[in-house]
Amino acid sequence: MKYQILNNGLKIPIIGFGTARLQGRECFKTLSNALECGYRLIDSAQMYKNHKDIAKALKESKIPRDELFIESKISQNLNYLQTKDQILRILEELDLEYLDLLLIHEPYKNSLYMYDAMQEAFENKLIKSLGVSNFNENFLLEFMQKVVIKPVLNQCETHLLYQQKSLHKALQKHDILLQSWSPFIANKNEIFNHPILLDMAKKYLKTPAQIILNFLYKRDILLIPKSSNLQKMKQNLQIFDFELENKDLQKLIDLDQNKSFFGWYE
Ligand SMILES: NC(=O)c1ccc[n+]([C@@H]2O[C@H](COP(=O)([O-])OP(=O)(O)OC[C@H]3O[C@@H](n4cnc5c(N)ncnc54)[C@H](OP(=O)(O)O)[C@@H]3O)[C@@H](O)[C@H]2O)c1
Repeated sequence: MKYQILNNGLKIPIIGFGTARLQGRECFKTLSNALECGYRLIDSAQMYKNHKDIAKALKESKIPRDELFIESKISQNLNYLQTKDQILRILEELDLEYLDLLLIHEPYKNSLYMYDAMQEAFENKLIKSLGVSNFNENFLLEFMQKVVIKPVLNQCETHLLYQQKSLHKALQKHDILLQSWSPFIANKNEIFNHPILLDMAKKYLKTPAQIILNFLYKRDILLIPKSSNLQKMKQNLQIFDFELENKDLQKLIDLDQNKSFFGWYE
């Protein structure tokens, strides 16, 4: 696994495993396969209602805790005390002593109060790194002026058709990483059948999915693709052994439509 360094000096796997819409036995089985394949970063959220299933898979994997990177999100507007309780609940559900990363799922009215509780949990060593998700540039810049601990990353919809160029540039300026959610647009828009990707897949002897992930990785974007299929899970990890030519990179850059396909930023 390759790693990136966060602005607090800790390392984060470049590719992690997304668990949205995975619950119960399916979540346990899929995650067990993912851990077996080599995934070490697991992305979850309060909203996904799968912490207990994840805990079970982590326990059965017997992978040492310090080799894992477990991230989750608080998915509702809470006050300071409710957030403190929620952090303890997440830890209890995941059966962990600490989280590697906790995010605020989207900009909430109480985001600053929520972050206060997260900063306190950081001081108490319950969370190693703090971050945000779906924060646009203006909201994030204002937010950063009022918090003590800088977020390490912003997890946002980022894919070939929505490359987040402006947000990414702003994040880079502040040493905050961009973590892409739905790198495959959740299989919408016939993305895997795009003629440019099919041509490149032939040329580089890779799959369209691997071309997409390699492209985002080369642009310093962290990835959390989801797959329930063992072969595709493995495929999504094998993206570091080829280099796209500049003219191909440019063709992919030009596919950007600079618009959300899920409506978070409208
Ligand atoms: N912060 C947020 O607001 C937010 C929002 C959305 C998602 N997320 C996170 O981001 C993660 C990833 O996003 P996502 O689950 O929405 O979608 P995604 O990773 O963009 O796409 C998943 C889809 O792509 C297919 N797929 C995966 N690998 C493939 C491959 N190599 N070849 C062909 N098809 C492939 C999967 O099918 P199979 O399963 O059949 O392989 C599935 O239908 C989520 O699971 C979640 O952890 C965060």
